[in-house]
Amino acid sequence: MIPHDDRVTGQTREQYDANTGAEGLDDRPHHQRGSKEMDYGRKRIGQVEMPRAVQDAIRAILDEQDKSLVRTDALRLYGSLSGSGDVGSKGDKPVLAHILEYGYRESTAYIAAIAPTTYSAIKNVLEEVNRRIPDLQPKTCLDFGTGPGTAIWYERQLRYTGIDASMSMLETAEEILGSMATAGVAIPNVTFKPFLSHGSQSTKHDVVISAFTLSELTTPALRKSTLEHLWDSTNDLLILIDRGTPSGFKTLAEAREQILGLDLDRCPHDKVCPMYTSLARDSQWCHFSQKVQRPDFLRKTKHSKENFEDSKYTYVVLRKGARPVFTPTSDMFAASHLWSRIVVPPLKKDGHVVIDTCAANGYLERIIIPKSQGRIPYRDARKAMWGDLFPHAPKNKPVRKDTVKNMTDADREGDEAADEDGKSIKRRPLGVGSEALQKRAKQKEKKQSRQKVSLDQIDGTKSSRKGKKGGKDEDVFLEL
Ligand SMILES: C[S@@+](CC[C@H](N)C(=O)[O-])C[C@H]1O[C@@H](n2cnc3c(N)ncnc32)[C@H](O)[C@@H]1O
Repeated sequence: MIPHDDRVTGQTREQYDANTGAEGLDDRPHHQRGSKEMDYGRKRIGQVEMPRAVQDAIRAILDEQDKSLVRTDALRLYGSLSGSGDVGSKGDKPVLAHILEYGYRESTAYIAAIAPTTYSAIKNVLEEVNRRIPDLQPKTCLDFGTGPGTAIWYERQLRYTGIDASMSMLETAEEILGSMATAGVAIPNVTFKPFLSHGSQSTKHDVVISAFTLSELTTPALRKSTLEHLWDSTNDLLILIDRGTPSGFKTLAEAREQILGLDLDRCPHDKVCPMYTSLARDSQWCHFSQKVQRPDFLRKTKHSKENFEDSKYTYVVLRKGARPVFTPTSDMFAASHLWSRIVVPPLKKDGHVVIDTCAANGYLERIIIPKSQGRIPYRDARKAMWGDLFPHAPKNKPVRKDTVKNMTDADREGDEAADEDGKSIKRRPLGVGSEALQKRAKQKEKKQSRQKVSLDQIDGTKSSRKGKKGGKDEDVFLEL
């Protein structure tokens, strides 16, 4: 009999297959595949290509533009989004850390140079959500910071509300949807709005998504109140995606803390993010990578012949309701909540594989899977990739990574404290505030606040999408 790791289900493989209905689903011979659990927990999907109709619509918009200006603007957008700060100059004054305001130039450069990569990250996350929650049947979706409508392109059946503060982005989104409809691939139920309505009258949505937007909000206070409204606007899922950089990760780690803190009674077992509290957090941050097929317009904008690139992103998916409880008759959905997430590409050595994971117990753990552990765990380990869930417990004790000093197990779980009625409540370790702490937080907030500027302000050039103006064709190549 094939050895079956009891951490996976607490059952034999036969019992497990019978309970989950997995029997007979996969007819490939055993030597060709990983275990069903490994397949279920796979994160990586193949190279992502933007839907052809979206590419055609973008190409039609770009055909009307001055290509060298689009390229110059795109390079500035990369500079701004990568947080390098110095993205241009006004006279002899460099323009430092800021957030770009999306006018026509920025929106045009965005669809030419950035949307294919953000789309690929969104697609990866949504595929994972669909795979892991197969009975999820959302009807409505709110996309906050929709930009050109990137998240909307993934699925045509939902009723969407796309929110964006930039009229140029919303017009671009409408132009793209208009072209798609003309080409016979309409996404029919989309409403765009310039702001998020909230309060008791506001509509709730089955899924709320915000991709690559939270880190573009100008102040931490705005991020906090926006997040509260986003959580309030969902009936079920809140999906946050951001750039796979240290600052993108920090933004989402804080967002996760905030939501779990708001809703502790519903999420009692969710632990403090070990990567966020890690001593090595300046050199290690939680992020993943998705391969993107570069459309011709992206290759031209970048002056590159390479037809693919990697899109780095970080994400968190929060769901309302109780955490699924694992029982011996659980299906993979519940079981997978006990598996570890692989947080860096595994190291394949001779006869063993070294895997760094974020474990369900809330620790960063290094596990080693030797050949002697058995055929299935070893084969799964050899095939495991960055981002996958790994369903096997190691034969030997895992090695835990350090987290910040004073972080006790109680902190990690959330302190026990009593509320006004004397009921026991859990308190998050972060965000407690003495006067000095509050003062420090205010100073930090001021430091972290950034101004919005437009490319017109940076280079003094005035142009609209229809106005073709020459730009300097710098031979620079930057990766996002
Ligand atoms: C980097 S783009 C992301 C677009 C799209 N979600 C994607 O993944 O490609 C960020 C978007 O957030 C929008 N945005 C920034 N601040 C906003 C706010 N306070 N309210 C609504 N939208 C905002 C910007 O106008 C911009 O279109």
